[in-house]
Amino acid sequence: MVEIGTGLNSRHERVDNGRARWYELDLPEVIDLRRNSFADSPRRTMIAASATDRAWAAEVASHATGPYLFVPEAVLPYLHEPDVRRVIDLLAGHFPGALLARDTVGPGFFDAQEQHDALSKVEARMNWYCPGPAQLVDWRPGAHVLASHILTSLPEESVAQLPVPWQQMVSAMAAQRLPQAEGYRLNFLRLP
Ligand SMILES: C[S@@+](CC[C@H](N)C(=O)[O-])C[C@H]1O[C@@H](n2cnc3c(N)ncnc32)[C@H](O)[C@@H]1O
Repeated sequence: MVEIGTGLNSRHERVDNGRARWYELDLPEVIDLRRNSFADSPRRTMIAASATDRAWAAEVASHATGPYLFVPEAVLPYLHEPDVRRVIDLLAGHFPGALLARDTVGPGFFDAQEQHDALSKVEARMNWYCPGPAQLVDWRPGAHVLASHILTSLPEESVAQLPVPWQQMVSAMAAQRLPQAEGYRLNFLRLP
């Protein structure tokens, strides 16, 4: 499991299965900050690098045999398209057949970022939007879209697994028909 652009995410604390090997990657200054709250362990390693840097992929591939799951949550939209392609290419090149769980924003969300109540107040801006899940297949023929859902149109069985406050939040967002919610997609893919 490799969390790309981990920030201060506590995914390991929340969903670790007690067996998986975890890597948590972010830019060096963010990993410095992260080390104030989280620590490496025999199954958990922080990596200070850019996602676009080939060296981290070679290091992970040399230490962990797979199967691999990559999770760049709220990360790729902040890169420019050539860097998004660089990340996809290095994942497909080093980890053929790996699973990729990534979120994408569509043009409606991208164009609304200056009006977003929280996103408009931070310095970082999204630099890339994804026209649809098929784009990855165009970029990397042989990739498979295993699932792809707009946040406010998740399958009922998926919503039922969420904590009740989250179910209520998703249904309230769906009722408002906000471009930022309707343009936010959760994608589960297999790399070629
Ligand atoms: C919006 S935050 C998301 C953090 C975390 N994934 C989460 O969902 O809580 C975006 C993260 O991507 C990281 N990031 C941005 N560009 C990056 C790059 N080139 N390589 C690695 N991480 C990057 C940022 O430092 C930041 O921690």
